[in-house]
Amino acid sequence: MPDTIIDKQYRLQERSKAIEIVKKAMDLAREQIPKGKVATYIPELGKADPHQLGIVINPLKGEKICMGDYDVRFTMQSVCKVIMLIISLELCGRKRVFEKVGMEPSGEAFDSLVELDVSNSKPYNPLINSGGLALCGLLLPELSFQDVLRFTRNICSDPGVELNEAVYESEMKTCSRNRSIAYLLESKGIITTDVEDTLRFYTKMCSMNATADSLSNLGAILANDGVCGDTGKRFMTSRTARIVKTLMLTCGMYDGSGTFAIKVGIPTKSGVGGGLLSVSDKRAGIGVFGPALDTQGNSIAGCKLLREISNDLRFNLFYDPEWNREDEVENEVIKGIRNSFVI
Ligand code: DON
Repeated sequence: MPDTIIDKQYRLQERSKAIEIVKKAMDLAREQIPKGKVATYIPELGKADPHQLGIVINPLKGEKICMGDYDVRFTMQSVCKVIMLIISLELCGRKRVFEKVGMEPSGEAFDSLVELDVSNSKPYNPLINSGGLALCGLLLPELSFQDVLRFTRNICSDPGVELNEAVYESEMKTCSRNRSIAYLLESKGIITTDVEDTLRFYTKMCSMNATADSLSNLGAILANDGVCGDTGKRFMTSRTARIVKTLMLTCGMYDGSGTFAIKVGIPTKSGVGGGLLSVSDKRAGIGVFGPALDTQGNSIAGCKLLREISNDLRFNLFYDPEWNREDEVENEVIKGIRNSFVI
């Protein structure tokens, strides 16, 4: 089997081989499902079927590859923080956005309050709950939830994106952690809008229904520096796309971001609904759905699936043809280093 499925122009080559690779990866990923658990801290999410798994690979050049439960609807949850960030950067500009949030990984859980309880601190980055809430405070005076919904339908090329009322109501009843974060942000002057309105705005965005397919469309626009390849429509500046992709790589998987970057190497944002939005820059947008989560709140089978395809389909940012011979190569490298010391 050739190791290049994507050619130098980043076209998906040898479609049938690519499909074979994805099928094999799906089988391996399914084996992880029993080790995961669906989210239950939002009771409505606890009803999800943990066995579901789907993927859409949407290459900038070439046909989509869709497999498994790729058209099942689930709530975006934290994946929507990518949309919040795009809108914030486009409407308010970089300076105002980064006055409210930082651009560093937090090393803490997605709903952590710890780092906020230090004087003068702001949320570490926009992709954790505190960062998302801070951006919602920035956005609330600028636009309504209906505006966000319209933008999301357009950027996901999915007119079916709706507010999932049941999930929204369920989260509003159990969001005391987010409520605490939001009031803490108000006490620090980071949220200056009405806290309860801001919390409702944030929770509605998390409760928008997407599919792996719609996430792959959003991912393809980010991979194409902000432009929809099919229509030529620009959704954001290339500068915004670059900031978003960089933060997805460094902060998109919370306290698992570093490990994910080494093992998978594709900028990705997860959500507790089981969604993963991935961007292989200049190559493809990828949407994944698998509601069984690992302890960090990331889709357990989805992460494995991305790990399995990242090197074989050349989606890894730091593609290495030797990667799959990891152990063998390790010995060669060590020998190589020893030899150079001997000289
Ligand atoms: O705010 C929350 O806790 C949820 N609406 C979203 C959290 C989430 O998706 C974390 N992701 N992996």
